[in-house]
Parts: sequence; C-alpha cells; structure tokens
Amino acid sequence: MGDEQQQELDPDLLGRYTLTTWGYKQGEMVSLMVHLGTRLGLYEALDGAGVVTSTDLAASTGLHERWLREWLRGQAAADLLVSEDGETFLLEPEAAAVLARTGGPSFAAGVFRNLRHPEVADGLAEAFRTGLGLTYDDQGEGSEQHTEAMLAPMARSLLVPVVVPLLDGVVERLEAGAKVVDVGCGTGLALELLADAYPNSVFEGYDVSERAIAAARDRFAGRANVSLHLVGGEDLPATGDVDLVMTLDCLHDMPRPDLAMAAIREAIATDGVWLAKEIRSSPDWQKNRRNPVLAMMFAASVSTCMASAMSTPDGMGLGTLGLDPATLAEMATAAGFTRFVQHEVDDPTNLYYDIRP
Ligand SMILES: C[S@@+](CC[C@H](N)C(=O)[O-])C[C@H]1O[C@@H](n2cnc3c(N)ncnc32)[C@H](O)[C@@H]1O
Repeated sequence: MGDEQQQELDPDLLGRYTLTTWGYKQGEMVSLMVHLGTRLGLYEALDGAGVVTSTDLAASTGLHERWLREWLRGQAAADLLVSEDGETFLLEPEAAAVLARTGGPSFAAGVFRNLRHPEVADGLAEAFRTGLGLTYDDQGEGSEQHTEAMLAPMARSLLVPVVVPLLDGVVERLEAGAKVVDVGCGTGLALELLADAYPNSVFEGYDVSERAIAAARDRFAGRANVSLHLVGGEDLPATGDVDLVMTLDCLHDMPRPDLAMAAIREAIATDGVWLAKEIRSSPDWQKNRRNPVLAMMFAASVSTCMASAMSTPDGMGLGTLGLDPATLAEMATAAGFTRFVQHEVDDPTNLYYDIRP
C-alpha cells in the first residue's frame, strides 16, 4: 500500500494532486515575499511609478538592486506585477489598492505581517539594505532537514537508477572502486545512495554548512568509506585523482561558483567525470513563465539560494534560476573543462550535465 512502484497511478490525477500540493507551498513562500514587499515599502514605491526597472526601484528606495530584481521577477511570476520581459515591471492601480494603499478598503497586505520564522525575515529585510545575504546556516533550526525533504524524492528515484547510468563508463568504475567527491553535499543523502549502491568506492562530502555536515556525520557514523569536510567547494584539495565529482543543486547557491569550478578542475582526474545537477531555467523570461511554480522558485531564490550566493561581499548572486545551460557551459569552459553534455532526464525541476576535462 502507498508504494508508487506497486500501484497503477493515473498520470493526470497524479499531476493534478502534485500541482495542487505544490501550490500550497508556493503560497507559503510567496507570502514571505509579500511580507518583505510591505515591510520594505516596495509596493508603496511602485504605486503610481508606472513601468519601472530594478535600477529605478533601487534609486527610489535606496535598496540593493540585485535583491530587488529577484523580488520583482518573483512578484511578476506570482501575477502581482505585470511584466512582459522580466526586466520592466508595473504595479497596476488595482494591485496597488490591494498591496500598497494601507488605508483603503481593499488593502490586504497587512495580514502578511506575522511570520513563523521572524528572525529569517529580519535577516532578509536587512539584506535588501546591505546587499549581503544569509548562509544556509542562517536559515534557522532544522533548515537542513527541510532542504533534504525538498530534494530527496527526486534524488531517491533518479540518481542511482537513472542518472549515473547515463554517464558513460561511470557505473563500471564505481563497481570496481572509484573516488567520489560530492561538493555541496548537504546532509549527505546522495552520498548515502551511492555508497549503498557501490560499496567498493570511497566517498567524500564537502559543504560549508555546519548543521548539514553535522547531520551527515551522524548519518555515516561508523562507515569507513565515507568522510565529510566542513570546507567550501572553492577550497577543494587539488588532488587530481577524483573519478566522479558531483555538484547537485548547489552551484547557484555558492557565492563564487567560478572558483568552485576551478577547484573541481584541479581535483578531478584527467579521465574523471563531473556530474552537475542544476535547476531547469532559461535566460528567456517567457520560457520561465511556463513553469507553474515560478513564483515559488523566485521566492526560494530570495529567501535561500540567492541569499546564500550573496552571503559574501564578492558573491556573484546567481540564485535559483541563475545557472541556465548556456551560462553553466560558459563557466565550465572558463574553468578548463572541454566536454559538456546535457542529458535528458524526466525531472520537471532539474537539468543534468556530464562535464569532463
Ligand atoms: C540546495 S542544497 C543541496 C544539498 C545537496 N547537494 C542535495 O542535493 O541535497 C545547497 C547546498 O550548498 C551548500 N553550499 C553553499 N555554498 C557552498 C560552498 N561555497 N561550498 C560548498 N557548499 C556550499 C549549502 O550549504 C547547501 O548544503
């Protein structure tokens, strides 16, 4: 009972329940964005301003342009602002009545004042002023488990049975005994899936989150072929002997993915393979708009991914939707990789890449 593998599921009904359920999560996350918009006076600044860019809004509010751009795009994806191109934005007067005009009869944004994690919202509101974001460890107690809960279903169903076999020659190497490094390993779920499937290999996980590494250490207590390091991807040891490097849903979270990619190039064996999993995104606004949970993705970016990618003064701030295939290919080439293949995988959220020196 309850096992997807053993029951025939109606794909249309499954799709409907999936969208309905994620719609509630999207609502929760967009609520935080409305909270920030009200709290920072963004709707008031947009009211009557006509069509504006993030630079215009930065000038009129004194807030940080990059943060405003991500927030504006999320608001447009949430259908609270009008935007044809993801660059220019309009708060229509009717939307202003609901979101900006505090004294009016239609004003509704006041109910977004109270939040479950007020300290995270405090940090984000401050980030709009300073530009400096929040790390994963700043996200509050239990956030590492929340991240795992978000990502685990796809990782469990796809990584070992579908994705690894797409990488030419990798299964044989893992069976024989390979060195695997997971950069941005989080709580270590992917390492566990691979270590269970390929016990002859050795595994190393790297992450900058103390909480995630502590959870991963608990997970692997007593297991000799898995080691964990509280070290960022940019400081990966230049051993030149890693057979398989993985970066799963984490490069766009890193302040300096360019440095992490350069370090991966120095760590990987000349015949090694780098498996990158990144969020499905496009530089084309209208293509992104076809994603039914785009507003949730931008909310995740402002609150978590871009927040992390802006958490150092030199952060590039890519964010959830910032590493599309062309950008990743360009950055991988700049880091010294010469082969770049995107694999087709039935995953609505992520794209998978096989990158080699
Ligand atoms: C969305 S989570 C993905 C975790 C894991 N790879 C997975 O698929 O479940 C992103 C991870 O990237 C980590 N991260 C952020 N900046 C990093 C850096 N500079 N080096 C290594 N990891 C980093 C975060 O701490 C977080 O654990």
